[in-house]
Amino acid sequence: MNNPPTVNGLPYLGIYKNIKKDILGYSLHLANTHGGLVRYKQFGKYGYQVSEPEYVKQVLQTNAKNYKKPAFDVSRLDQVFKGGLIGVDGDEWTRQRRIIQPQFARKALMGLIPTMISLSEDLAKKWEGKIGQTINVFEEMGEVLFSIITQTMLGISIGETQKDIAKACNTVNEESRNFNLLARLAGKHFPNLPNPANKTSDDAVSLLHSTVSSIISERKNSEPKNDLLQMLMDAKDEESGEGYNDLELRNQIITLMLAGYETSANALTWLWGLLDQYQQHQNDLVDELKHALGGRAAAEDDLKNLKLMKAAIEEGMRLYPSVHTFPRESVNNDIIGGFDILGGSRINIQPYITHRNPDYWPKPEVFNPHRFLGDQSKKIHKYAYIPFGGGPRLCIGYHFAIIEMSILMSVLLPRFELKLNGYTPIAAAHTTLTELNGMPMKLEARK
Ligand code: HEM
Repeated sequence: MNNPPTVNGLPYLGIYKNIKKDILGYSLHLANTHGGLVRYKQFGKYGYQVSEPEYVKQVLQTNAKNYKKPAFDVSRLDQVFKGGLIGVDGDEWTRQRRIIQPQFARKALMGLIPTMISLSEDLAKKWEGKIGQTINVFEEMGEVLFSIITQTMLGISIGETQKDIAKACNTVNEESRNFNLLARLAGKHFPNLPNPANKTSDDAVSLLHSTVSSIISERKNSEPKNDLLQMLMDAKDEESGEGYNDLELRNQIITLMLAGYETSANALTWLWGLLDQYQQHQNDLVDELKHALGGRAAAEDDLKNLKLMKAAIEEGMRLYPSVHTFPRESVNNDIIGGFDILGGSRINIQPYITHRNPDYWPKPEVFNPHRFLGDQSKKIHKYAYIPFGGGPRLCIGYHFAIIEMSILMSVLLPRFELKLNGYTPIAAAHTTLTELNGMPMKLEARK
């Protein structure tokens, strides 16, 4: 066996304590010390940290069949994701993805832009009344992006239903942040134990199930609308001619809702912080917006002209990829970069680590959107930049996310400035990469 560089750590626990204390710092240390493929031990079992772009490519693309998505190890999340795109594998995944893929093509999403603009304008109006206050940027971004996903998807507007859904989604997301191993194992192996945490999460899941089911049945008896629900209801598998049944439709909608707002909210939260730390890039961005839009919100045709905006969003996600780590499980033995990989092992793909490899990203800690512009951008290794994953399971919401983030920033940036005022952001690696205190920043009108 030609094993990769290996870190055994403590007896039985292996590297668990180091990971629990600081997963990103420790993983970066492992990559810097041992390279782009490191074998580690945790709870008596070996796993692999894969960060070198060519190796990432093998796992996500060239030999993707050998690297399946592991079952959710978070106690009850499988109830939510099971049956939707994120939680299925093999032939079932292929069929589901084939049906949904055309609805998320860039062109198909253009009809959703007016809704995105109108909700961004609502936030701008709200911010006008908050000038001078210190705001929690993550909460503000989360709220508007949640409205965008629910309204573009289900056609429902801010009101009681949306509040209930938001609460249920937050409960589910909070559970996914629960890194208390014992609680997770108890929830998973003794699902029927009368435990308050189980009840809260079960109630949230049933609320999501019943609300979305009733929206679907209402829609079936009413006029078609211009939203994603309609697109998914009308979608047909090109091979079989069949669409989703009601249960699949419900699971898909919930999956998209949960996957689609916290990630973008984190990305924009970090971007606001970075723009205040790099004033010149912020000024250039505002100039680009003023020049291209002259005070109005970006419409479909403008997006291609907002090159610096897209580059700034991309560079923000290079430094702070919302999905900082995602797992695979090797099916059979494989060889990566000349090293043996055992079948049945956990593989960690870590955008946060890959995005800091100095061989691909000179001065990796510096925020420089120009990396994503012109000739420089053409030289980027496809698997050195993986905030949306890669290969067949590339994020389905990639275009949706880029469009909604560009629209929102194009409305807010020319009018407002957010200031850290001496606050130093702290990265917290929960399920998504979030700012520990929600990025408190002072809201000012742009002069
Ligand atoms: C900045 C925003 C986003 C980021 C950083 C992000 C990141 C990711 C990543 C890394 C994956 C791949 C995970 C893996 O391979 O295991 C993924 C998959 C997925 N994302 Fe996103 N995402 C974002 C926005 C969205 C949005 C807006 C939606 C839906 C509207 C969405 C829906 C999904 C779905 C359904 C999958 C599973 C795809 C499949 O397995 O076929 N995401 N996302």
